[in-house]
Amino acid sequence: MDRADAAVKTDPSTIFLKDYTPPTHLIDTIELTVRLNDDVTTVSSRLVGRRNPASGSGPADLYLDGEDQELVSLTLDGRTLEKGDWRQKPEGIVVPGIAGDFTLEVEGRIKPQDNTRLEGLYKAGGMYCTQCEAEGFRRITYFPDRPDVMAVYTVRIEADKARYPVLLSNGNRIETGDLEEGRHYAVWHDPFRKPAYLFAMVAGDLMVDRDSFTTRSGREVALEIYVEPGNEGRTGHAMDSLKRSMAWDEEVYGFEYDLDIFMIVAVSSFNMGAMENKGLNIFNDKFILADLSTATDADFQRIEAIVAHEYFHNWTGNRITCRDWFQLSLKEGLTVFRDQEFSADTHDRGVKRVGDVRLLRAAQFPEDGGPTAHPVRPDSYIEINNFYTVTVYEKGAEVVRMIHSLLGAEAYRKGIDLYVERHDGQAVTCDDFVAAMQDASGIDLTRFKRWYAQAGTPRVSADWRYDEAARTLTLDLAQTTDPTPGQPDKQPVVIPLRTALIGENGQRLPLTVDGEESGDETVLVLDEAERRVTFSDVPKGAVPSLLRGFSAPVKLDAAWSDADLGFLAATDDDPFSRWEALQTLATRAILAMVEAKRAGRPMSLDAAVVSAVRDGLEDARLEPAFLAELLALPGESMLGQAMDVWHVDAVHEAREDAIWTLGDTLFDTWLALYDRLSGETAADDLSTAAMGRRALRNRALQFLVSSGRPEGLARAAAQVQAAASMTDVMSALAALNDTDCPERTEALQAFHDRWQDNPLVLDKWFTLEASSALPGTLDRVKELQSHPRFDPKNPNRIRALVGGFTMGNPVRFHASDGSGYAFLADEVLRIDQLNPQIASRLCQPLVRWRRFDGERAKAMTGALRRIVEQPTLSKDVFEIASKGLS
Ligand code: ARG
Ligand code: ZN
Repeated sequence: MDRADAAVKTDPSTIFLKDYTPPTHLIDTIELTVRLNDDVTTVSSRLVGRRNPASGSGPADLYLDGEDQELVSLTLDGRTLEKGDWRQKPEGIVVPGIAGDFTLEVEGRIKPQDNTRLEGLYKAGGMYCTQCEAEGFRRITYFPDRPDVMAVYTVRIEADKARYPVLLSNGNRIETGDLEEGRHYAVWHDPFRKPAYLFAMVAGDLMVDRDSFTTRSGREVALEIYVEPGNEGRTGHAMDSLKRSMAWDEEVYGFEYDLDIFMIVAVSSFNMGAMENKGLNIFNDKFILADLSTATDADFQRIEAIVAHEYFHNWTGNRITCRDWFQLSLKEGLTVFRDQEFSADTHDRGVKRVGDVRLLRAAQFPEDGGPTAHPVRPDSYIEINNFYTVTVYEKGAEVVRMIHSLLGAEAYRKGIDLYVERHDGQAVTCDDFVAAMQDASGIDLTRFKRWYAQAGTPRVSADWRYDEAARTLTLDLAQTTDPTPGQPDKQPVVIPLRTALIGENGQRLPLTVDGEESGDETVLVLDEAERRVTFSDVPKGAVPSLLRGFSAPVKLDAAWSDADLGFLAATDDDPFSRWEALQTLATRAILAMVEAKRAGRPMSLDAAVVSAVRDGLEDARLEPAFLAELLALPGESMLGQAMDVWHVDAVHEAREDAIWTLGDTLFDTWLALYDRLSGETAADDLSTAAMGRRALRNRALQFLVSSGRPEGLARAAAQVQAAASMTDVMSALAALNDTDCPERTEALQAFHDRWQDNPLVLDKWFTLEASSALPGTLDRVKELQSHPRFDPKNPNRIRALVGGFTMGNPVRFHASDGSGYAFLADEVLRIDQLNPQIASRLCQPLVRWRRFDGERAKAMTGALRRIVEQPTLSKDVFEIASKGLS
């Protein structure tokens, strides 16, 4: 390899938001013809375009992105271009001197059957499908593959008729017919202009589930869900979720579907969850296929949320799209907020919020505090696929949620209406979104916009004093944000803190805030480094309830005593805050156990936690689903985050010991609860209430098993055998999974034998095996990589087995001998050769090395260094691993 080559490979270039320029040329229409063949697929495209007035006039270079394909010919306005009429660029070509209107024809050849990256056109099982977001279209044909180039697509697909009877693309099917040699074709036309990343096509022998939806203006929309043969009959839940999403979007946002047909295709090899291609969503089959015997309640809810998410993109993403990829959160943050609210309206709002906060804290906070931290709107990237992150998605959703809180529901909706009125059919920026919100509400959001630009999780401190004589409570708030890579100095952000005061009797008190009557709940806005607020007329014994509903994505350090937390855990009427109080109390107690353990003292769980749990169990007002959340102890990674150094083993042991104490001390209560709930819920009842009862019963089972008493193990074993629902089977297996006992071995074996022919269910088994805290798990994972049903190229298999170990098993992944890290480095390097996107995601746990002790940190950086030194590394992995080391 010569030096220039090496430079390209080890130092891929960085793309900056500040360098954005409008496209030199616009493409009005594209006619695409794809001839699918086993050996070589040919792609011809005919682009009709013009010079972009916003970019200038006169002759300019037309840049076409293109990768991994053979360019056969280029024709400009009917004239075939010779070598020399155009220039080769590293990742595309340039046709110079195009001044006015033009027609460009491009012929190329691709090999979808060899496409293991699963970007562009590829084969999954027996079908062809596409994934073009973010930059996959350039792997199909040469094109200005950027979201601000929006064209009207007409797509002709040709294929063997017997093997690929179903031919799909975006929009409406306008023509079909037969060809020679047993081939056929279909032509699709999508009347809406769209960027290339929303293009999709599918060819296969597929089964379809049909239904329809009548929009509120009375148009009938055909709904079709396509699956591979063998999976028919498992799409009912997805279809039902789709129809409810369509109705919700009309009701809450006034968004009506705009084509006559909406299709979903479920595929078995997919890098992400799903994709919102116009009129033709393509899904990882994991997020479509479900029935009672194979899907857990959590699976049902996740499917519903993802179906909704992709459908909602039709307006927030497709009708109004992103100007450039730095604006990704424009569509993703907003659409996640929308799907969260849909789920909250469909199920239990409090439980949904707790789940969303759990995810944010478990995944986004660590990202925001580590070497790959980036703002919701990043200002640079090497590989855009690395920016489909919890920050862009989930923190982005929190930012939209804060706008909603600051404006109120009504003004927020006006803002949405204005956003659509101004920008329908355009490719816009996060600034455009905020401007619409600001203009519709009259609320100045200038400072608020720092949330888009500044990375890192703000820390908010809250301290208060009560003056008995004056009956005032003075609350002092302050905020800081730690430096993140490239952002050493942080400015204050606008933090809405939903606040109440809870009186001695457990009721919310009427508020007078700085002399103004403010109902019994208020949003205090902290937009400076510090703020003092005085509540007057406050009776003795009032306790502040702060950050209710988790009203901002911050780390709150409030001066609650353990007694305050016990009080809030028993009385606070805000579900999030009540849950949070018990979590905080439990975190303090478990961290004290960790300290004791490390100091060689005996560990014991603070009695305050036991009594708070007992109070919860005895509170008949609580919904079972919420109680199940309330009674869950903070996870190991949450506890690790609360420490300067995450002492993996001590945290694991302390948490286990805490669970054991709760299981043992309250054994009879758990047992009574378990047995009472066992009779109450039919396994096929998928109502929110029934899901809640199952969740609570399975929480009780977890504590029963942890007590180590035989009645607990027996119930878990019996529950696996009864196999009433996948939820119950999985919960019982999870409860047994860390205990070395014959019940576990037998139950796992039986599960394997029962489900070995169902890949998605077998994934659950791979994950159970990989996430067991028992010693020997890493060897077991390596052994399972040769399991006949483990396909080492399939993203779902990789995530289940390898990801199950590296992300779901802290105590074994972080083994002090570094074996977990070495294993992950090997896997990253192996997978990177096939599928850089998956490899790059897998690599993430290693970049968190600063959170661990010296020995582990050294082993983790060693693993990262071994990755970075690989000469043929993808941009994807290079970016993550090199940032991880910096
Ligand atoms: N837009 C899709 C969604 O939000 C995700 C696409 C991810 N693509 C990627 N290359 N990372 O559901
Ligand atoms: Zn999305």
